[in-house]
Amino acid sequence: MFPRVRLRRLRRTERLREMVAETSLSVSDLIYPVFVDEGIERRVPIRSMPGQSRLPVSELRSLAEELVSLGIPAVILFGIPAKKDAEGRESARGDGVVQRAVRELKRSAGDELVVITDVCLCEYTTHGHCGVVEGGEVLNDPTLEILARQAVSHAEAGADVVAPSDMMDGRVGAIRQALDDAGFERVAIMSYSAKYASSFYSPFRDAAKSAPAFGDRRSYQMDFRNAREALREVEQDVAEGADIVMVKPALAYLDVIARVRERFSLPVAAYNVSGEYAMVKAASAAGYIDERSMVLEVLTAIKRAGADLILTYHALDAARWLEEVR
Ligand code: PBG
Repeated sequence: MFPRVRLRRLRRTERLREMVAETSLSVSDLIYPVFVDEGIERRVPIRSMPGQSRLPVSELRSLAEELVSLGIPAVILFGIPAKKDAEGRESARGDGVVQRAVRELKRSAGDELVVITDVCLCEYTTHGHCGVVEGGEVLNDPTLEILARQAVSHAEAGADVVAPSDMMDGRVGAIRQALDDAGFERVAIMSYSAKYASSFYSPFRDAAKSAPAFGDRRSYQMDFRNAREALREVEQDVAEGADIVMVKPALAYLDVIARVRERFSLPVAAYNVSGEYAMVKAASAAGYIDERSMVLEVLTAIKRAGADLILTYHALDAARWLEEVR
């Protein structure tokens, strides 16, 4: 018999399609990553990330106003210090670049903007690794103490959420303890729980001047062949007190996002990373694809996979496009 069931019926008009859409992308899902550079006075475009720049603290007020007016609820800050050392101690300085950036954003936007800070050492160490190095190895436990102090200094500056991206074992627990001991039990932790050692980070390392001087990050970031291990990472972070867990990168890891979503109840974030951004920008500059429709498809697919929140360099464009659609 000719098919009685015809799935095309509900695809016939725009309104019908809207009624039965299973996934919706909203501006309130977006988190915008921002690079703050201590060594510059004016914005410096990032070559490998067209449309993105490193900013001085003095440009954050106007950025905050723009984000609030677009309805983007949050930023995540990455700091580029004027000087680095072997242990990244600069990262915990009360008047460090991120700490000053947090204060400026909070002065400008208050609770209209959620300020998240990336907690890691790689932008602050001369060797570019995410922890303390000894004999060519990245040491776990000595790194925890520095990360914890960095997180507390971000909280003192007014950060709403701290986001450890270093992939040391036990960092969520160490940071939670340090925050609570310092009276910051209200500050949340968004953990980069399942962070893979990935080629998709190259443009970021260029932007943040954080490429490792020797070796790579495979002794602490995850192996991209593993998905069950991601669930163990998340489980561990949940046990240590994470409030939000993250999968990173996003596009080549939609299966991991889906599995984390299925297994856990806390909010799941996904990082649409620099390499994913750079590919879309390059293909669109070459005229191979339509940027707007591809970005909206990519971001919606990340939500469909199960992410509640998306960290993305496309946030400002996407916010404008979403507004036009409505
Ligand atoms: C720092 C950090 C990285 C990213 C976020 N935090 C780089 C890395 O691990 O090498 C990557 C973000 C992106 O590529 O957009 N540890």
